[in-house]
Amino acid sequence: MIRKYTFGTPFPTGAVVQSLEAAAGEVPFFETGREGEKVIFRRTMTPEEMIFGLGENVRGMNKRGHLYRAWNTDMFNHSENQPSLYASHNFLIFFRPGQVFGVYFDDPGLVTFDLGESHGTEAVITSENGNLDVYLLEGHSARAIAREFRQLTGGSYTPPRWAFGYIQSRWGYAGEEAVRAVVENHRQRHIPLDGVCLDIDYMVDYKNFSWKPEFFPDWKAFNGEMKERHIRLIPIIDAGIKQEEGYAPYDSGKARDVFCKKEDGSDFIASVWPGMCAFPDFLNPEAREWFGDLYQPLLEEGIEGFWNDMNEPALFFTEDSLREGFAKAEYQRQHLDDYEGMWALGNVFSGMANNPADYRRFYHQTPQGKICHDQVHNIYGAGMTHATAEGIRRYQPDRRYLLFSRSSFIGAHRDGGVWQGDNFSWWSHIKMAMQMMPGLNMSGFLFSGCDLGGFGMDTTEDLLARFLQLGVFTPLMRNHSALHTRDQEIYRFDSWEGMRDTVTVRYALLPYLYSEFMKAALRDEMYFRPLAFDYPQDGRACRVEDQLMLGEDCMIAPVYEPNAVGRYVYLPEDMLMIRFRSGQDYDLEPLEKSDHYIALGLHEFPLFVKKGRFALLCGGGECTEELDDTRLTALGWVEGPAQYELYRDDGVSVNPQLEEGLTTLQLQGEAGKYVWQIDR
Ligand code: GLC
Repeated sequence: MIRKYTFGTPFPTGAVVQSLEAAAGEVPFFETGREGEKVIFRRTMTPEEMIFGLGENVRGMNKRGHLYRAWNTDMFNHSENQPSLYASHNFLIFFRPGQVFGVYFDDPGLVTFDLGESHGTEAVITSENGNLDVYLLEGHSARAIAREFRQLTGGSYTPPRWAFGYIQSRWGYAGEEAVRAVVENHRQRHIPLDGVCLDIDYMVDYKNFSWKPEFFPDWKAFNGEMKERHIRLIPIIDAGIKQEEGYAPYDSGKARDVFCKKEDGSDFIASVWPGMCAFPDFLNPEAREWFGDLYQPLLEEGIEGFWNDMNEPALFFTEDSLREGFAKAEYQRQHLDDYEGMWALGNVFSGMANNPADYRRFYHQTPQGKICHDQVHNIYGAGMTHATAEGIRRYQPDRRYLLFSRSSFIGAHRDGGVWQGDNFSWWSHIKMAMQMMPGLNMSGFLFSGCDLGGFGMDTTEDLLARFLQLGVFTPLMRNHSALHTRDQEIYRFDSWEGMRDTVTVRYALLPYLYSEFMKAALRDEMYFRPLAFDYPQDGRACRVEDQLMLGEDCMIAPVYEPNAVGRYVYLPEDMLMIRFRSGQDYDLEPLEKSDHYIALGLHEFPLFVKKGRFALLCGGGECTEELDDTRLTALGWVEGPAQYELYRDDGVSVNPQLEEGLTTLQLQGEAGKYVWQIDR
């Protein structure tokens, strides 16, 4: 059951697709208070209560004990004290034995979630602007509530099947020669690959929708060449449009008057990669239409996927913030004895990027009227995703597209996926990436993954190997790294064969993982879940923070520590362990419900399949088009009859229908046998 409670005059965020009448009275399970404009929701928690959700955020799956702020931020340092990353996903499930409920704060502005940080037993959620809808969701289980939430907010985006292939990316590929070499190096070594991302390097002066001629003398021909090799080029598009007369997107944006404005009506201008930029007003339908159309020439030439970036929006500085900084510096020059002012001055310059004052300096022209950006800050990135998706659908209504964004808000899960932003080559970031997945899934973002190998800092061979082993199971499997960091394509490392073999597992599992993903998307389920969602009665399972349920029947337990030669795994029920070395090389061991130490050499990693169920491998291939799923190997601990619903489709048509794609595969199990061949 879902109930809606309205406070003030909420701005329509686009998150919710069901129309509900607002209920009277207080939001159950909370005490509501007001302080000026703020609306504050307080809840006293029992000691055993857990809190799942908040989508893209640091720390554990159980979010209790920390303070989070819904405020989309270009934050490259994902350390455990960060209150915000690039997205706001204000959906939580409060969970304790005998009571579970969900709550969604549909508010596009700043919301703080003090989830027991100030007082261990109190959750205090504060809407700063006080204009919001609160949705209270009740159901018999966390899974049922997560499903209900998807029905409230709409079904998840489904990418084309090729997007589940391995994707190589790097900030710094200097043109087609560099990309060709990357592809060549993968193909020669039989490292499967389906796509290469093009970072801002491909553009002229980092200007969206332009191609640097010295890097890509004939990008259309090059794109054709790549397609012949079954490689998709996936260009980045940033939110800012360079303020430069004669640059077509700027000129057409000016002509249509679609940029965000300052109070005085002039365009709001701030610095990002290309220099001073104007910002498309993604809250204005006309601006969205104009921006979406800018993708058309790329689509016409056969580009099938994009990654949208810097759309919080990231602002390096504005003329105003710079002027204020210099005024403070001038004050300091004249007050040399004021050492406190000197420290403050340092903060002025180091904190100039993405500063709150700049977000108060511009306005959106929306169907609801003019509104200051800081009131609706968190839906800007979702607006960009929506503009892109609408533009693509206008141009190619019959084909699925790949789209993943850095910034997001619930609602954007209907139009695209997200990647987790600028992580580091840190061991703790493997665990963080894993822990973020269920929260993202709860919020509808099923198509997601992290920068494998780590974006910032230099990766190491063993770190990349372990990152990839998590990546085998994340819907988006992309290796990406920052400019000037160590090269981290698989073939750069001595033990590249081991990592190649890891990627072959992804391809062997791909028909199965795709099937699990599509069933989850089309049934409003989560693809990744905390163990608590499947075993709520098992107090031990509820507290597991480093394993995830995957699809209907599986569990993963990646290694995330250096020099590890194995790890402990808690099995909440009897399962078959598949210890992979490659798509063709694995061993199988039935394990009973309990704790187990699993030995895992550097290039070994496990998948656990529930007893009585089975997972499927195909013969593998070097790109998704090559995969042949007519003959499948079933792996399971099955002692009687068992069946599996395999979902297949053409991988590109829109509105995939579950019933049309399902085939039931059956097998007759017997004690001591774990492998079967199934001809579909
Ligand atoms: C941002 C993105 C990152 C990208 C870089 C350059 O930091 O998050 O993925 O490589 O910008 O475009």
